[in-house]
Amino acid sequence: MPSNSIDSLLHEERRFPPSAEFTSTAVAQADLYAQASADRLGFWAEQAKTLLDWETDFTETLDWSNPPFARWFADGTLNVAYNCLDRHVEAGNGDRIAIHWEGEPGDSRAISYAELTAEVKRAANLLTSLGIGKGDRVAVYLPMIPEAVVTMLAVARIGAVHTVIFGGFSSESLRSRIDDANAKLVVTADGGWRKGKVFPLKAAVDGALVGHAGSVTNVLVVKRGNNDVTWTQGRDLWWHEALETVEAEHTAEAFEAETPLFILYTSGTTGKPKGILHTSGGYLTQAAFTHKNVFDLHPDTDVYWCTADVGWITGHSYVVYGPLANGATQVLYEGTPDTPHPGRWWEIIEKYGVSIFYTAPTAIRSFMKIGREIPNKFDLSSLRVLGSVGEPINAEAWVWYRDIIGGGTTPIVDTWWQTETGAIMIAALPGVTTLKPGSAQVPIPGIKIDVLGEDGTRVTPPNGGLLVVSEPWPSMLRGIWGDPERFTETYWARFEALEGSKYFAGDGAHVDKDGDIWLLGRVDDVMNISGHRLSTAEIESAIDSHPIVAECAVVGAADDATGQAVVAFVILRSKHSESQSPDEASALLRAHVTEKIGAIARPRQIFIVNELPKTRSGKIMRRLLQDVAEGREIGDTTTLADTAVMQIISDKMK
Ligand code: PRX
Repeated sequence: MPSNSIDSLLHEERRFPPSAEFTSTAVAQADLYAQASADRLGFWAEQAKTLLDWETDFTETLDWSNPPFARWFADGTLNVAYNCLDRHVEAGNGDRIAIHWEGEPGDSRAISYAELTAEVKRAANLLTSLGIGKGDRVAVYLPMIPEAVVTMLAVARIGAVHTVIFGGFSSESLRSRIDDANAKLVVTADGGWRKGKVFPLKAAVDGALVGHAGSVTNVLVVKRGNNDVTWTQGRDLWWHEALETVEAEHTAEAFEAETPLFILYTSGTTGKPKGILHTSGGYLTQAAFTHKNVFDLHPDTDVYWCTADVGWITGHSYVVYGPLANGATQVLYEGTPDTPHPGRWWEIIEKYGVSIFYTAPTAIRSFMKIGREIPNKFDLSSLRVLGSVGEPINAEAWVWYRDIIGGGTTPIVDTWWQTETGAIMIAALPGVTTLKPGSAQVPIPGIKIDVLGEDGTRVTPPNGGLLVVSEPWPSMLRGIWGDPERFTETYWARFEALEGSKYFAGDGAHVDKDGDIWLLGRVDDVMNISGHRLSTAEIESAIDSHPIVAECAVVGAADDATGQAVVAFVILRSKHSESQSPDEASALLRAHVTEKIGAIARPRQIFIVNELPKTRSGKIMRRLLQDVAEGREIGDTTTLADTAVMQIISDKMK
């Protein structure tokens, strides 16, 4: 068990070297770093050749003659779906389970590689029969059901381009994405299960296409929710009926490595969502490489589970492409972690013997909030590697994750990357790296990262700076769909005065004396208090480290005296929320932050709340908290998972 000492939590000094036993069978050994630094491009060429099957070998690894537009393995040809499916069957692994699918109501399906390959072949024929060809865009708006994976791979198989839109997005968001991508086809379902209810998806697609004079010619509808749907004759087709009309056999054609694979929309700091474009060979190489090495995948024996929805980049790279390219057996779960009971995730781990588990700190913290009693009821002893992604994992959550979920022995790999980077960029290698809770640690082999000051010079410890990727990488975004200028402006202009092109990630970071990288959150969340820069993440970590705290969010609110002031919204752990008065708790935490960081960081106000406003992907919407903290009308709450939360918080503050 972790020590309860607050100091040991915030300034967790313990280090966790890999056990000799783990290292002895680890996929990734220390020599990978030396190999990659001796010949970076040679290293990636080698990975591309060993991890993937190419129809035509490439002769040039990287063409960087026109930065920031990169071309990787450009004269090679391959088929992405063949690499994720057929070749495993041809290698004699057709009977291996690709997907253990678990529906929220408790229905389940085990799908072997042979079965998945057969389904994708048929679906590829169906897409072709609907007039979809190379380069055409297909919008995917599906719940977490096997058909989501089948659709993505079928699109890839015929050289078309998918754009998956998370099922929680509204009609309006769907429409703007369909329009921006000029999609010809939408694949959806009647409904999906979430929190014990069927949520309608087809209705949202209908809404998005009302009066749509645009590109969409057909809507394919998977039957899942058995809810009523309205039908547009001539446009709408049932997936299961349409599949019966096409051939079963389909031979995958090889496409050039730079063939667009998908567009995934992500929010920028301002304006409309950006369509991040990824292509085939480089993307698949890095997704497969990182999936195998960072998670120590042994495909014969491991059962892997990434909890991300396929509507996000984590679902693309670490539910679909990485694991399937590597021939992994994985769990795919439709629903929410707490339906029908708060131990559902742990029950699934026990049921399938999950050995590698990848989730987000926000989930870990919400489990911490309800307490260890729930996971303690399940046998989690099959777990041997735990991953974290999406935001910095504070040391306390890290230690809880390892101790309560990982039985005190599993390595935890904190993985930093973005929609734009396509695959993991910074992470420990679990058989090599001595783990340091709270730090994402080091760039993976073959990746070059720097932390630069405003002026472009490298910062020295303990100073913070801006995270940049200093060399092109195989899974890098190839652009913003339809907007090359925005691509250049957003990511490449910040340090254009420097020699070489530097990708500006938008994250703050610092490097410690050992060379380990600590992410400090988006630079857009950096506050300036009395001329001192403070990171919301740093203050949150301080507050989170207090034993009474379950979760918190910090915003910088305008302040006459200091420019900005720190305002914190805190959820107490359930056992403290009854015993501690809000005033006492605030006083305690203000003093705690002062002690941990300094009076400069002391929150002006701390509000004790029951919930934080989160998007459906679990991101805290600080913008809304900032509105409350600054006494403004609350802005747009439509992307919240629970729109009532903000009303409750603002009523409470009044
Ligand atoms: O701020 C970083 C944070 O998430 C951002 C990227 O968000 P998105 O494109 O939605 O992709 C999330 C999943 C890859 C980054 O700019 N972020 C992601 N992972 C971490 C992280 N911050 C700290 N530590 C991480 N491990």
